[in-house]
Amino acid sequence: MRILVTGGAGFIGSHFVRRLAATGVDVVVLDKLTYSGNPANLEDVPHEFHQGDIADPEAVARAGAGAGAVVNFAAETHVDRSILAAGEFITTDVVGTHVLLEWARQTGARFVQVSTDEVYGDVADGASREDDPLRPSSPYAASKAGGDLQVLAYVRTYGVNASITRGSNTYGPNQYPEKLIPLFVTNALEGEPLPVYGDGRQTRDWLHAADHCAGIELVLREGAPGEVYNVGGGEELENGEVTRRILELTGRDESLVRHVEDRPGHDRRYSLDTSKLAALGWSPEQRFAEGLADTVAWYRDNRAWWEPLKSGEYRAYYEAQYAARLGS
Ligand code: NAD
Ligand code: DAU
Repeated sequence: MRILVTGGAGFIGSHFVRRLAATGVDVVVLDKLTYSGNPANLEDVPHEFHQGDIADPEAVARAGAGAGAVVNFAAETHVDRSILAAGEFITTDVVGTHVLLEWARQTGARFVQVSTDEVYGDVADGASREDDPLRPSSPYAASKAGGDLQVLAYVRTYGVNASITRGSNTYGPNQYPEKLIPLFVTNALEGEPLPVYGDGRQTRDWLHAADHCAGIELVLREGAPGEVYNVGGGEELENGEVTRRILELTGRDESLVRHVEDRPGHDRRYSLDTSKLAALGWSPEQRFAEGLADTVAWYRDNRAWWEPLKSGEYRAYYEAQYAARLGS
């Protein structure tokens, strides 16, 4: 079956395209190539590429011709950017999802929406289950929740064959250096400061990109329509601990750490109950200690991938985000 992967030039999407292509699946990618979309992520991976916007019905129809399924990774994804300006998040994550759903409704294609644990909001105790209420805190999380609700409505009203995955914080090679791990690893390699928000005691549940993609593929093949599946690594760590491990792996010391002004609306903790996906046969294979060491090694060995990214648009974003916080 031909499979349409939207956002396939981004971080997790490109891991997914690589995974499908390795088993001989006919993959077509639709990607707008925003700042985080990078054709280099798909070098040497057999696929058909269309540059275009998921919010553009004609672009979706062109790229989707002949596809029997779509896996939607395309999104604006960075919480801090959504706090600076949320408009694109609504256009892509809500309107774009709606356009893809219309295409699936018309063609009868299977649909998988790649969503996030952030839609549940802060979890003080225990772990989020798939039927918990949605309490998004950031404009990003709210836009992803809006996409999820569109998906569930299209299943109920039109019988679209759609499922949703909600993944936890994902890491690995090819992640744009604005998120915690690639930002801190590349800054540490450069001897630049590591801006830890607030007290650094916020907790995230870390999931390797390979495990995340395995979960999404299983849901594509065996997930039931209208069902949501949590995909979590099961390794909860405070940001301060992740920072300490990155310093150790890069041979740097605590002097690079700067405790800076906190993120507005910052969720303290996420945690996922993954028993529903486990019942389909999924479990994460990568331990965080090894996965992080491999990831640091990848950034150390692939400066040609990330050094050019840390200029131009990135610099402007970095200044807007961190200048006041770092007092520079
Ligand atoms: P990313 O920012 O690396 O990639 C997003 C991709 O989508 C880019 O290639 C970009 O060019 C493309 N894109 C953006 N707007 C588009 C549009 N309008 N039309 C077509 N393409 C567009 O993001 P990522 O971290 O790989 O996240 C992929 C998906 O996984 C997102 O839906 C995100 O919400 C979800 N997710 C991410 C994480 C994580 O920790 N990174 C965890 C759970 C879920
Ligand atoms: O939980 C899944 C989500 O994980 C995905 O849906 C999002 O697309 C992805 O961006 C990620 O969101 P987070 O906000 O959790 O990830 P981020 O890497 O931005 O931040 C992780 C934690 O680290 C968070 O508590 C904020 C903190 N942080 C982040 C940055 C960029 C810092 O302390 N300093 C920083 O400079």
